[in-house]
Amino acid sequence: MKKAGLYIHIPFCKTKCIYCDFYSITERENQIPEFTNAILKEIDLYKHYKNKWKFNTLFLGGGTPSLLPAKYLEKIFKKLDDTFDISSIEEITLEANPGEINFEYLKDIRKLGINRLSLGFQSFNDKILKQIGRLHNAKDCFETFDNARKAGFENINSDMIFNIPKLSVKEWIKDINKLLEINPDHISAYSLTVEPGTHLFKMVKKQQILMPTEKIDIEQFLITNELLSENGYNHYEISNYSKFKMECKHNLNYWELSPYLSFGPSSHSYDLKKRWWNVRSLKKYIKYLDKESLPIEGYETLSMKDNFNEIIMNGLRLSNGIKLSDLENYNEFIDKNKIDKVIRKWDCLDIKNNNIRIKNDGFLFVDEITKDLFF
Ligand SMILES: C[S@@+](CC[C@H](N)C(=O)[O-])C[C@H]1O[C@@H](n2cnc3c(N)ncnc32)[C@H](O)[C@@H]1O
Ligand code: SF4
Repeated sequence: MKKAGLYIHIPFCKTKCIYCDFYSITERENQIPEFTNAILKEIDLYKHYKNKWKFNTLFLGGGTPSLLPAKYLEKIFKKLDDTFDISSIEEITLEANPGEINFEYLKDIRKLGINRLSLGFQSFNDKILKQIGRLHNAKDCFETFDNARKAGFENINSDMIFNIPKLSVKEWIKDINKLLEINPDHISAYSLTVEPGTHLFKMVKKQQILMPTEKIDIEQFLITNELLSENGYNHYEISNYSKFKMECKHNLNYWELSPYLSFGPSSHSYDLKKRWWNVRSLKKYIKYLDKESLPIEGYETLSMKDNFNEIIMNGLRLSNGIKLSDLENYNEFIDKNKIDKVIRKWDCLDIKNNNIRIKNDGFLFVDEITKDLFF
């Protein structure tokens, strides 16, 4: 049976960060009970997926899932258990914001079976954290990390962001070194993107804030690779690094194009043939589920060509690259002459052990290489 992922989107946040375009809402935590009931109803509407796939991961993402009290998480887990066969789930991740959870909460959710924590540190520079609208400071990061270890979390990810206005290369190196001191099992290091609709986008447009130059962005990316590799982290995906065997299994499901079912407003699902997504509004989401209807806003059917291009796009992001066997069914889209030409153009492309992959610093050109290989 094919492995698959489960995702739950929890949209509540204490505040809106200036760069974030994920569906998240503030000052609505009073709706957590109503939201949880809607999630339970949505899960029920997918009960016919019970024996279709072997679910091996569950990810609670957001928003800020750690704003959900443990008793509501417990209700969701019970519903998942009653509805699907979740006996093969190996990894349950919860995203949490530093400074917003205490030791008791961490102990409670560890007891519920959550075995991976993703902490949104972003930076250890208090000025930078304030600038990007975070509520926590560096001390909160270290305290939350410490409490998580004490509560029994042996698999902790830290989300970090570089390419932030006014973050010098020197300051970023300091951040990485501080992170290395606490030794997380997994690190996601993202380059800050300016997403339309965000406060950051407006500020950049009005020239109230200046994004770093591309040179600084590249320098910070390269120094991240260097320092993390030297310290035992495997750079297994463009923005992701892990200790031995600590890769995020849930994200690997996405990148390797395994199917996934998702619940909650704005969440996306994928069944190998089509992708569908939910309404991006808690109000509408609850309204649909009150009427026992699926809260779907839209869907796309994926053609063979779309599937081929997605294998290229996702596979090249991984350091293992694309298994040539995954392309076996797509001969009509494979033009050997074109591939030879692309390989001659990009000396960072490598075909070895039946895989095609980007090596060394070639990740810097992944978008261009992907476009060259698209059908
Ligand atoms: C959407 S948040 C959800 C988890 C949690 N609320 C938090 O902020 O950590 C997940 C991660 O996405 C990353 N992220 C969100 N928007 C981003 C952007 N515009 N550029 C780079 N990273 C971003 C941040 O590192 C963040 O930790
Ligand atoms: S980055 Fe995280 S905490 Fe900030 S608004 Fe987005 S989801 Fe909420």
